[in-house]
Amino acid sequence: MTPLPAFYDDLDASLAHLWQLLQDGPALRRNAFHMPALATVDEAGAPQVRTIVLREADSGSGSVRFHCDRRSRKAVEIAASGRAALHGYDSASKVQIRVSGTAVLHTDDALADAAWAGSLAMSLVCYGVAPEPGAELSSGDAYSLPETDASIAAGRPNFCAVVVMATRLEFLFLDRRGHRRAAWTRNGDRWAGTWLAP
Ligand SMILES: Cc1cc2nc3c(=O)[nH]c(=O)nc-3n(C[C@H](O)[C@H](O)[C@H](O)COP(=O)(O)O)c2cc1C
Repeated sequence: MTPLPAFYDDLDASLAHLWQLLQDGPALRRNAFHMPALATVDEAGAPQVRTIVLREADSGSGSVRFHCDRRSRKAVEIAASGRAALHGYDSASKVQIRVSGTAVLHTDDALADAAWAGSLAMSLVCYGVAPEPGAELSSGDAYSLPETDASIAAGRPNFCAVVVMATRLEFLFLDRRGHRRAAWTRNGDRWAGTWLAP
C-alpha cells in the first residue's frame, strides 16, 4: 500500500499542495491542471463549460490566468458577470481542484501586452480567425486564419488575458483509506479553511 501523502490530514499542507498543482499545471502539457474546465454563466443564467489552457497560477495573489478571444462567448459572459470557476481532476494523483472567484478581462493594459508578448506565435494565430469565434459557417472550412507575422499581429485587439481572483478553493483527494475534502474562502489576504465531508 502506498504511504499516505504528507498533506493527507494537514489542512495547510493541502492548501499548499493545491497551489503547487495549479502552479505546475501551465508547464505540464498532459496534466489536468494544464487544461482545466472553465465555467461561466450566460446571459440566460445557464451554466457554460469548456476547456482552457491555464497560463499561470499565483498562490501569492490567489489568482489564475488564461487567455481567450474577446469576441468569444466566454469573454462576453465574464465581462457581464465578473465571475468564473475552474475545475480539474488529475487521475494520476487522484486530486480534484475547484476554483471560483471574480474574473477580469485584460485587453489593453500592460498585463495583456505581457501575456501577448509571452505567447507562442502558434497560439496567437487563433486571435486572427475570421469570422469571429462561434460564428455560424456555411461549411466546416469556411473560415480563415492569419498566415503572416503582420496579420498575426493584427489579431492583438481580439486577445485578452483573463485573471480569476479566487474567492473559494476546494480540494478533494481520493483514497480508499478515506477521502479527504477541504475548502477555503478568502479572508483578506488569508485563506480560512475547513475539512468537508467528502
Ligand atoms: C485542449 C483545449 C484547450 C483549449 N484552450 C483554450 C484557451 O486557452 N482559451 C480559449 O479561449 N479556448 C480554448 N479552447 C477552446 C474552448 O474549449 C472553446 O471550445 C472555445 O473557446 C469556445 O468557447 P466559448 O464559445 O464558450 O467562448 C481549448 C479547447 C481545448 C480542447
